[in-house]
Amino acid sequence: MKIFETKKDLASALSAYRNQGGSIGLVPTMGALHDGHISLVEQCCRENQATVVSIFVNPTQFNDKNDLANYPRMLSADAEKLEKTACNFIFAPTVEEMYPQEDTRTFEFGLLGQVMEGAHRPGHFNGVAQIVSKLFDAVQPDKAYFGEKDFQQLAVIRHMTRALHYPIQIIGCPTVREPDGLSMSSRNMLLTPEQRKVAPVIAKTLRESQVRIKEMPLDALKQWVVTQIDSNPEMQTEYFEIVDRDTLQPVAKFTGQKLQGCIAVRVGKIRLIDNIAYE
Ligand code: PAF
Repeated sequence: MKIFETKKDLASALSAYRNQGGSIGLVPTMGALHDGHISLVEQCCRENQATVVSIFVNPTQFNDKNDLANYPRMLSADAEKLEKTACNFIFAPTVEEMYPQEDTRTFEFGLLGQVMEGAHRPGHFNGVAQIVSKLFDAVQPDKAYFGEKDFQQLAVIRHMTRALHYPIQIIGCPTVREPDGLSMSSRNMLLTPEQRKVAPVIAKTLRESQVRIKEMPLDALKQWVVTQIDSNPEMQTEYFEIVDRDTLQPVAKFTGQKLQGCIAVRVGKIRLIDNIAYE
């Protein structure tokens, strides 16, 4: 496994694979890798001749300076974990390498970008699209892998990929959970032991909502979810929406269609997101 900091060095290493017609897979990450990331990497390695894992804490997608400053950075521990997989290349560029000048591009996601994370984190998805498009340009992968934990991000990236005509297959991979149900996230390591103990309430409540959706009107169900979670003094729900799985627009009634429940919760100062399927 090789680690590159520049697009140029990465491109010349990848050209050998490309020239032989081998497929290249990309797993974009911000590092602080956990088993959820590793499952993306393993799937990528199975499905491609070369796997690139990018590790870059992208400043343009943080709308909160403290969140950016506190985001965990641990490149050597990440590299050790990736050594145990069949990953071929880590791409760990500097901010100057990815943003030699300010990126003033703005991306349009239509209604997809206006709800939930889009409404609560202004500019976040624009920053995600800026870096993901730069990574797509640098790596030119055949396939790119993203976790379904970031459900709306996955939809926004699919939209951007289609709109910009990237010949890249976007692969969404299932959320990986801790044994107590908490969805794996690099932010989990920032929770205090007490917060970590209560955080699984989010997943537990979402699971229970899968049963209750058959018995309750959606408004009442949404209220129930928020009340369950916010009854814990450490937790405050930022939003919980039940949306159409493709358009991500809130729906008024459950008639057995494919819906997704998406939630953002502040656990102390740490913001966690999760989601669940209803059908
Ligand atoms: O999901 C993430 O870790 C990031 O948003 C991504 C896709 C790597 C872009 O910085």
